[in-house]
This record gives sequence, C-alpha cells and structure tokens, in this order.
Amino acid sequence: MALRLDGRSVFPEMSPTPLDLLSGHSTLISDGLSLSSLDDALPSPDVTAPPARMLVVDDEEAIRFFLHKKLTEAGFACDQAEDGLQAIQRVEDDSYQLVICDIRLPDIDGLEILRRIRSFDEDIAVVMLTAVTDINVAIPALKAGASDYLVKPFNVDQLLLSVSRALEKRSLTLENRLYQQTLETRVVERTRELVKKNIDLSRLFLNTIESLIFTLEAKDMYTEGHSWKVALLAANTGRALGLDAAMVENLSLAGLLHDIGKIGVRDTILNKPSKLTTEEYLHIQQHPVVGERILRPLEPLKLVLPCVRHHHEWFNGKGYPDGLAGENIPIAARILTIADAYDAITSERAYRPARSRDEALSIVRGAAGTQFDPRHVEAFVAMMEG
Ligand SMILES: [Fe+2]
Ligand SMILES: [Fe+2]
Repeated sequence: MALRLDGRSVFPEMSPTPLDLLSGHSTLISDGLSLSSLDDALPSPDVTAPPARMLVVDDEEAIRFFLHKKLTEAGFACDQAEDGLQAIQRVEDDSYQLVICDIRLPDIDGLEILRRIRSFDEDIAVVMLTAVTDINVAIPALKAGASDYLVKPFNVDQLLLSVSRALEKRSLTLENRLYQQTLETRVVERTRELVKKNIDLSRLFLNTIESLIFTLEAKDMYTEGHSWKVALLAANTGRALGLDAAMVENLSLAGLLHDIGKIGVRDTILNKPSKLTTEEYLHIQQHPVVGERILRPLEPLKLVLPCVRHHHEWFNGKGYPDGLAGENIPIAARILTIADAYDAITSERAYRPARSRDEALSIVRGAAGTQFDPRHVEAFVAMMEG
C-alpha cells in the first residue's frame, strides 16, 4: 500500500519518493516492512539492557512520525524534537545514545546543533539527514563528529543500517575508552604494587646490610663505627672528585661493607693487642676475598664487590689480594682505601693510640703515589682541610 501519514507523503519534496523505491525491494518503507535482512546488522539485543534511546529532530512532522514509527518498531525508545532549540534542550535534559538530526532546521543550523550536542556529550552518536542538495554539508558534518549521514530519500534498510552502524561505533568507542581506563588503572595498580615491593626489598636489603655490620662490630670491638665513618669519608671524596650519584652511592655502600670479610677472621687475631705473626697477618689479609664471597649472593651489591675485594691494593702494586697497580685498581677501591686508612690512623687500636687529624693527613699525603692514587689524595686532603 502507498505510504501516507496524516494524509501527506512522508517525503513530499523528494523525487523519487520512497514509493518509487518500493518496486523490486521487499524491505523498503511499507506497512508490511520486512526487517529480517537487517537482523545481522543490528546490535544483538540485550534482554537485560533498556532499549537504546534516540531523538529524532526534524521540522517536518511527517518525517518525525515516520522515523519514530520505524525506530520504535525496530525496538528503540524514540523521542522527537521539531527544531534545534527543542533538540538541544532535550539532549541536555535527557539521556540519548543517538540523535537523528535534519541538517536544515528553521532556527539553528544542523551543523551547529551537532557541535552543541557533541560538546555537551561527546558520546552521543549523531546521524545527519541531508537532502541531495545538501550533500556538500555531509563532509563537514562527519568532520564535526557525526557518525553517518542519510541522503533523502532513504529507505528503512538504509535508516536501520545507519542507526546500527552509529550505535556500534559508539559502543566500540565506549568499550575502547573503558578498556583504556581499565588498562590505565591496572598500570597504576601494578606500578603501586611494584613500588611497594621495591620499598619492601630495599628495606630488607638495608636491614641485611645493617645486620652484617652489627655482626662485624660485635666481633671486632676496635672497628665500632669504622664502617660508617669510612662510608661517609669515601662518599664525600667521591663527591669532591665530581663522581655521579650512583658512584657516590656505591662508595657509601662499599664503605659500610668493605671489612665485612673480617667476620671470617679468628677473634684472637682481630683483637690481638700485640704484633701479628706472619701466619696471622696472612690470615687477616684474606678478609677482602672473604668479604667478596660473603656479599656475592646479594645481587644488588654486585657493583660493590670489586671495591670490597680491592680495598687493600696499593697504587704501586704492592697491596693485596691481587697486587693490582695504578688504574687497574677500581676507582672506588682507590678512593675508599684512603678513607679507610685515615679512619684507622685516627682511631685507637689494641696495639697503638689514635693519631691526630693533622698527623693522619700527613701520613696520607706521604703515601701518595705508593699506597694511594696521588690525584685522590689531593682531593681527600683538600676536602678534609676545606
Ligand atoms: Fe680492610
Ligand atoms: Fe677498614
């Protein structure tokens, strides 16, 4: 039957009219419309979800009624607005997933309505209705955020396909945004977990170092505070030499741990008030190697190991355990050995009293080029006198 609503053609200004299009099409506008061909194109119905809400905006009542009728039949909840102001008001007052809007309205230009709707809620899908004469406006409409446009005259297949695509695109956009937000949340959560684990590990790591130092100091009463003082002096020398923060931190750790191998030295030797025998001296000389062995399983300390092993090497190659000379001795070990010697000289020992600061600096200066790297001696003395 011919399609007429309220006695008027739905598309009075169009040629060909939808009636012309009816011939040869089973799914074109008709009261006996078959929508089966669109079943696959439409979004899968979610029986628990409310129907998608749509707003139809057109100043021609017949077109509004037609769109309202067909969209309602297709299962959507549909409202109508007859001009731009009413459309914007409805969008602001209610919640719509899709707006079908004529591009030519008496009060506000369709593109302007599109912009206002999108600025109010960028998630609303908008399908523009254009006449053939307005086709050049369709591109700016798409650029301004329209999901699609329908050129009048259109049939129900085209209408529902366009609606389906617009809703699907909107749904994908929302899903993608949700995915991004979920991903960002997961990244933040995971980062927080990792930071917490790192803090826990750092705390555990520092507690381990502290325990090792307490163990050493409990065993060797003459080295109480020695590790901390050497750490401080070595780090300050590193800074004076312009080393980077990582190297300074490494020096500090190495200072704390350099004598840890003394845990393996016999108590009778460590605390012996008289001169050591050759055998005892050779035994105590093992402490850098023992220290390296104690610390080797601790992965975060791997950069400290060379310094621990070589803190008794001499610049002229006459030190121990490996007899390294000059720049073959790791720089941290060359710096640390000066701080180590200075603190030992200025501390009381079982076999001698503490020396003064000036005496100690004089001894250090005198050993530049033999025991110590002259450049580092210069920096150390300047730092101490500065
Ligand atoms: Fe030592
Ligand atoms: Fe030492």
